[in-house]
Amino acid sequence: MKQIILTGIQPSGTLHLGNYLGAMQPAIEMQDRYQAVYFIAQYHALTTVTRPDELRRYTFEVAAGFLACGLDPQRTILFRQSDVPEVHELAWLLSIVTPTGLLERAVSYKDKVAQGAETNHGLFAYPVLMAADILLYNSDVVPVGRDQKQHLEIARDIAQKFNDRFGPVFKLPEPVIREATAIVPGIDGRKMSKSYGNIIPLFGGEKEIKKPVMSIKTDSTPIEQAKQIEGTVLGQLMQAVNPDAYKDFVALAATPGAGYGDLKKKLLAEILSRFQPYQEKYRHYQANPEEVEAILRDGAVRARTLAAPVLEKARQATGLSS
Ligand code: ADP
Ligand code: TRP
Repeated sequence: MKQIILTGIQPSGTLHLGNYLGAMQPAIEMQDRYQAVYFIAQYHALTTVTRPDELRRYTFEVAAGFLACGLDPQRTILFRQSDVPEVHELAWLLSIVTPTGLLERAVSYKDKVAQGAETNHGLFAYPVLMAADILLYNSDVVPVGRDQKQHLEIARDIAQKFNDRFGPVFKLPEPVIREATAIVPGIDGRKMSKSYGNIIPLFGGEKEIKKPVMSIKTDSTPIEQAKQIEGTVLGQLMQAVNPDAYKDFVALAATPGAGYGDLKKKLLAEILSRFQPYQEKYRHYQANPEEVEAILRDGAVRARTLAAPVLEKARQATGLSS
């Protein structure tokens, strides 16, 4: 049997090029080598998304987005976290071996405290639920972005503490930190992120994509002068979107008479052509949401089949069941 690769994706904002190139594309590629188990982490998103209509919209967007970009629901198990209630029982069993100090040291929690945010138990217990997500499916490999590295270490700590106390119940998953993936810059030059308002959306129509592309920050080199595009936002985005077209792009920029407007139009054309097939598929799912719903429900059934024996083992180890 193939090793299990598992990751959770928060439905917490509109999907953008950074999400696709940094997380979605690598995750989709993994489905050939592994049994992929991907879920939409709504309970985690609930710590930041406050509007129910937004949570619903983003949940659909993640599911339809992954499917449109090539996730194969026959092979990959795609489901909503909220469709597998077993995760909460496991989270409780893990919480009783989780030292409070471990959670107090979590950087994402400490950051919120430092920002003066009103904290709550959900934010505090976030890493315990994440550990439950990981351990419930006997995951072998868990790929995450750099910001989630500490949460993975905490998950391993918790699993170890549980095993020390109750016997060898959980497999300790291997973290895979996506250090290698380049950070995709947003239109203002900072990391593309929904929280900076600098994104190029993955599934916008042409108008929604054109607007941010045409507002990419550039310098004031006049049109008749050659432009040095390497390392600039425009250059980095072109390299990320179509590495094959990058050399020509640099050459075009260096041609006197080609303005930034022309370069942006070229980038826009590359983005539209690369993502057009995904956009079409996405629109298909928008018109047929019941197909997405059926896939998610089927995914949940398969996820629960994986979860049941693991939870039962934990219940037995703790003395909950005989
Ligand atoms: P945002 O920064 O918009 O809030 P998330 O933190 O929700 O995005 O991103 C989910 C995943 O998408 C991250 O773990 C990371 O791997 C990837 N990702 C997000 N933004 C970028 C980016 N600008 N470049 C590369 N990868 C990114
Ligand atoms: N906390 C992760 C993030 O913000 C999402 C997540 C929830 C997750 N549960 C997980 C990732 C389990 C990997 C494994 O990106």
